[in-house]
Amino acid sequence: MYVWPCAVVLAQYLWFHRRSLPGKAILEIGAGVSLPGILAAKCGAEVILSDSSELPHCLEVCRQSCQMNNLPQLQVLGLTWGHVSWDLLALPPQDVILASDVFFEPEDFEDILTTIYFLMQKNPKVQLWSTYQVRSADWSLEALLYKWDMKCVHIPLESFDADKEDIAESALPGRHTVEMLVISFAKDSL
Ligand SMILES: C[S@@+](CC[C@H](N)C(=O)[O-])C[C@H]1O[C@@H](n2cnc3c(N)ncnc32)[C@H](O)[C@@H]1O
Repeated sequence: MYVWPCAVVLAQYLWFHRRSLPGKAILEIGAGVSLPGILAAKCGAEVILSDSSELPHCLEVCRQSCQMNNLPQLQVLGLTWGHVSWDLLALPPQDVILASDVFFEPEDFEDILTTIYFLMQKNPKVQLWSTYQVRSADWSLEALLYKWDMKCVHIPLESFDADKEDIAESALPGRHTVEMLVISFAKDSL
């Protein structure tokens, strides 16, 4: 498994907002190596990592990242997008959901938003902080966001010092086009 360019950009966003993180309940979905979630935990957030319950090796990668970063107490859950599992039902309300490079397969987009919608029922103020790599100009979330009653704000990379080919000594962002989105419940007044 890799750390994807999106993960470095999302980690930079978290680092930029690190003073707001202590005590926040944060869930990372499709976490893989879990760079953003690990950073959030190091900054004082209450973090839960998750990856597909059908991909045990990915869950094992999440656990290894916790061990390697001296965070053995972090919970790692199998959460498959679009599935309402016992683990999803049992989750406490979250403040932030992290999603780095999960919008890579259009057929998964609605499943991801269904899971986010479910978490919005537990806390209507929850925000999805997500980075995605632009792979096709034809892909759009707009219609699905409208269908699921969500709104989206694009965060310019320069506003959090991520408009560079190298971020925090990582050359991964390179020339990939990565975008940062904050998605929330459309009826939330914030
Ligand atoms: C492109 S990788 C991104 C990994 C990590 N977030 C990063 O940016 O480095 C996509 C991740 O989504 C996970 N994934 C794929 N399909 C999934 C599904 N249906 N439900 C939950 N996670 C899934 C994969 O196991 C993988 O960890």
